[in-house]
Amino acid sequence: MPATSRRTSVFTESLIREMSRVAARHSAINLSQGFPDWDPPAALVQAGKDAMDAGRHQYAATWGAPELRAALGAKISRGLGVPVDADRELVVTCGSTEAMMAAFMTVCDPGDRVGLFSPFYENYNADAILTGAQAVHVPLHPPHYRFDPTELRRAFAGGLKAFVLCNPSNPCGRVFTREELLQIAALAEEFDVWVITDEVYEHIVFDGRQHVYFATLPGMAQRTLMCSSLSKTFSITGWRLGYLHAAPEVIAQARKVHDFLTVGAAAPLQHAVVTALNFPASYYDELTAKYAESRDVLLGYLDRTGLSYTRPEGAYFVMLDISPFGYASDVEFSHWMAKEIGVAPVPGSSFFAHGENRFVRLNFAKKPETLHAAGERLLKLKR
Ligand SMILES: Cc1ncc(COP(=O)(O)O)c(C=O)c1O
Repeated sequence: MPATSRRTSVFTESLIREMSRVAARHSAINLSQGFPDWDPPAALVQAGKDAMDAGRHQYAATWGAPELRAALGAKISRGLGVPVDADRELVVTCGSTEAMMAAFMTVCDPGDRVGLFSPFYENYNADAILTGAQAVHVPLHPPHYRFDPTELRRAFAGGLKAFVLCNPSNPCGRVFTREELLQIAALAEEFDVWVITDEVYEHIVFDGRQHVYFATLPGMAQRTLMCSSLSKTFSITGWRLGYLHAAPEVIAQARKVHDFLTVGAAAPLQHAVVTALNFPASYYDELTAKYAESRDVLLGYLDRTGLSYTRPEGAYFVMLDISPFGYASDVEFSHWMAKEIGVAPVPGSSFFAHGENRFVRLNFAKKPETLHAAGERLLKLKR
């Protein structure tokens, strides 16, 4: 048998998926993988059925069905506060996952260096490997997950082609402040670097915080490739719908990358989701309120365990400090927790570039009854 590719032979099996299997083996409540355990809005599900009945079965325009792009353009325009040309500044993708891959391939060549914060969402390293780019990690220091401006500057000064920004951030729950984002923007300008943003949790921010779209910062519209998704906003992670928004010159190239990667996202679902994009503004407020409630249920139980955690500012994950248990391996701890406590987390080390064994990540995109059941079990962790 000939050798398989060296480039992808370095991929390891996702620890998140492994923990889902461990959860099933021990009948543990699965707080590892990040998806909601409730159904999407009924009107959206109905629109999906209607789109099938209406015969939307063949390829849509490769960069997105016109009515979806129009609806997305209106949404993005409301967020950015500027007009959006849905014909020239937008590509509909198979989730933010594909948007990120297309963004990397649009601006990076093999050998380029791409900066990203650590801890990071695991796909970014894979995106770099698939592009042939080299990831350069900048630490977000626990427990507050803030960056050191000197370390960030050193990464930019070392020569970057692009910087990846996940905001609100998975796994650490940071919502970066305008001041922090301005520091990143100043470095991007000074060192002439693209900024690829992953803003899938744009509508899940807590305690009155405001999500600042990176592209709205002075001078940043021209150098930002904004990736986002409908997965989290409408609880449709399995529909695989996302988008990439950037300047027309960038999108002209990204469209071709997208075409060769996937041709396009599922046509009937593209039509269906227009219904959700037309929901009133109150939909987004209710979504935020629902996640804030879920967060508070889980944090309430964690408070009772006496363990330390980082209070999430956004997204739907919490990093729990497991150092009092004295495990040398967070993977071992996570297996123990699934088996003995009955709740499956993700070992924190899967998100950090350099050996970090002190944390596990719990996901609270779950119904209150799931979270209460998990919370009762978590009380067994009490120190
Ligand atoms: C930060 C982040 N980006 C992207 C994704 C995947 O998004 P999509 O379903 O749109 O591909 C996830 C899913 O968990 C995520 O946490």
